[in-house]
Amino acid sequence: MKILVIGSGGREHALAWKLAQSPRVQKVIVAPGNAGSAIERGCENHPASDVAAWLALAKAEKIALTVVGPEAALAAGVVDAFRGEGLKIFGPTKAAAQLESSKDFAKSFMKRHNIPTAHYMTFSDARLAHAHVERTGAPIVIKADGLAAGKGVVVAMALEEAHAAIDAMLADNKLGNADTARAAGARVVIEEFMQGEEASFIVMCDGKNILPMATSQDHKRLRDHDEGPNTGGMGAYSPAPVVTPEVNARIMREIVRPTVAGMAADGIPFTGFLYAGVMIDEAGAPRVVEFNARFGDPETQPVMMRLKSDFVSLIEHGIAGTLDQVEVEWDRRVALCVVMASHGYPDSPRKGDVITGLPTEEMEDAKVFHAGTTSSEGSVLVSGGRVLGVTALGDKVQLAQKRAYEIADRIHFDGAQMRRDIGWRAVKR
Ligand code: AMP
Ligand code: GLY
Repeated sequence: MKILVIGSGGREHALAWKLAQSPRVQKVIVAPGNAGSAIERGCENHPASDVAAWLALAKAEKIALTVVGPEAALAAGVVDAFRGEGLKIFGPTKAAAQLESSKDFAKSFMKRHNIPTAHYMTFSDARLAHAHVERTGAPIVIKADGLAAGKGVVVAMALEEAHAAIDAMLADNKLGNADTARAAGARVVIEEFMQGEEASFIVMCDGKNILPMATSQDHKRLRDHDEGPNTGGMGAYSPAPVVTPEVNARIMREIVRPTVAGMAADGIPFTGFLYAGVMIDEAGAPRVVEFNARFGDPETQPVMMRLKSDFVSLIEHGIAGTLDQVEVEWDRRVALCVVMASHGYPDSPRKGDVITGLPTEEMEDAKVFHAGTTSSEGSVLVSGGRVLGVTALGDKVQLAQKRAYEIADRIHFDGAQMRRDIGWRAVKR
């Protein structure tokens, strides 16, 4: 069978790589893909990059099933469009994807269904937002209501920072191009600062049944010691030791099951990958930081590295509504992914730098997933913010970390940014 993977990042390269390993797969088409998926065994790229083009591609190629990577495609209604034409696709509808695309939707959903999360208020009037921050004090969290590629959140440790964030989101248009910025930042959600350790809890859902993926943890800040601006993620590893069996059970009981049941009860059943970013406090109590309606990036890379089951079969069960009938097997080793980002990321990533030193041989215990790359005249060039996800397996987190950095240190492009401390929390434990 042929499979279509929608998207072009490190997540999509990792999903396509895993899907292509299934013996039943003839070919995985990644649209639009990157320089890594272009040459991956069993994979090829296609330039399609909007809903109409993906639909046409799926029909022309007689695609058996489609897996959606990015939130933007979901928010554009790709799942609704495919289903409307009778095509099989794994992902949430546009309505269900609001769990991610609208923080306001997510917050009122959680309130209505008693799912633990930070207290919040939504503002569109900058003056009222400033007054609210004055009343509550810092630390406090300011979020743009809308998709902002992981950049629409400011964790303000001081009041001045909070005020500046409100101005940036409601008055200026600093989130990128003016139209998307206005759309993404027209309202702000101001919420209580939660203390604790964060983990990524990602599950597959078929509307009713839940199949948890391996746990993982991401590093959102640009620089070592969790300093610098928030990014889409500078590295990740799996499993996340903070998610002990007890914490895992609590996340399922207090967050994931009520979310899936709540969406179904509200008439918008959730299908696809559901990602709960959870803050776990000292007592092991989990609260939702955010929902994503998709797999995490870079979490996908270490999680796919550990997946031993046939991923195509899991997706088929996800589409058929029979996830209660499958089991999933994970590599017992730790997988750790170090992101190499471009010069100027996250504010103004530079494109065009030449990448050298990429491994040429397949490795049993490691894989360099591409993200923002493109190929031109035999060279691989930087084409986006996060460029590569160097991912390795090891019996212990230290070993996975050592191996990933060993490979990353042989790769070069001008201005590359890379944290040296991915996995530090797990190492500390
Ligand atoms: P989000 O895009 O909502 O996940 O926010 C990005 C990052 O900001 C999260 O991964 C957290 O590290 C941090 N963050 C967001 N909301 C809160 C909160 N209420 N308390 C503490 N940290 C937060
Ligand atoms: N790594 C966080 C995310 O995918 O949103």
